[in-house]
Amino acid sequence: MKHLLKLLDLSGEEIVEILNLADQLKYERKHGIAHPRLSGKSLGMIFQKASTRTRVSFETGMYQLGGQALFLSANDLQIGRGEPVEDTARVLSRYLDGIMIRTFQQQEVEKLAEYGSIPIINGLTDFCHPCQVLADLMTIREYKGTLSGHKMCFIGDGNNMANSLIVGALKTGMRMAVAAPEGYHPDPAVLAFAKEYGGRFLLTSDVSEAAAGADVLVTDVWASMGQEQEAAVRRAAFAGFQINDAVLATANPEAMVLHCLPAHREEEITAKVFEAHAEEIFEEAENRLHAQKAVMVKLMEH
Ligand code: CP
Ligand code: NVA
Repeated sequence: MKHLLKLLDLSGEEIVEILNLADQLKYERKHGIAHPRLSGKSLGMIFQKASTRTRVSFETGMYQLGGQALFLSANDLQIGRGEPVEDTARVLSRYLDGIMIRTFQQQEVEKLAEYGSIPIINGLTDFCHPCQVLADLMTIREYKGTLSGHKMCFIGDGNNMANSLIVGALKTGMRMAVAAPEGYHPDPAVLAFAKEYGGRFLLTSDVSEAAAGADVLVTDVWASMGQEQEAAVRRAAFAGFQINDAVLATANPEAMVLHCLPAHREEEITAKVFEAHAEEIFEEAENRLHAQKAVMVKLMEH
């Protein structure tokens, strides 16, 4: 594994190896026995979009590993004034040991990897959010013991989160059901991938069908970053695609609820369900730190 550009590039075994290391790093930190595995290394963090969790967890994670992280707002880089990503990649590769990038187009992340000579980590694109889903899978394992055989259900927009959840769940042996309205389905490339998993994958517009017997319910905002002007249209399109008590009643009584955050209460999730499952949701947020430290160690240690 040279980069983390998208989960489609990883095998199920590679995903599990990251989760195992993440568990170990979490344990070491809780017990005060962590050691600086990335001492003297630098991570550049390019942000074209806002962030709370991704920025803070990467920055503190790198610090905890003995290295440093540089916050590089795209507005302040020459990339924001049109310097090609191909050139930015080759320049930054001469200063840094790794780059985390949050941007719009997946192609920009892939180009950074193609032209640069250091590990590239995708911190969210319009296509996917692999770091978040590694943290999600880590959290599910913590609560359920295993991934294989459990059923995940995603309700809402077939967006970057849906795309990565489908790939992550299927590659690690989970069953996956997605409830999304027509016109807001996951990416065709992800659906083509999911098709190979036959009966383990379901795409429907029927929320109850998707949630039936689910062990994990997941949702995300109806309008992602960059879609703010579509918010009203989307609110109408997604009415009913919400995690609420009625949906929970169709799931496994022991079902957990995850949300990558930020959450919009009474849109994709009710405030009641959110607060009832806050323990899991904030553990999930914490696990960004541990999962991403594992990714950085895997990619940047040697
Ligand atoms: N979940 C997530 O990626 O959060 P941020 O946008 O705050 O980084
Ligand atoms: N789908 C959301 C995820 C935010 C972490 C977005 O792209 O804005």
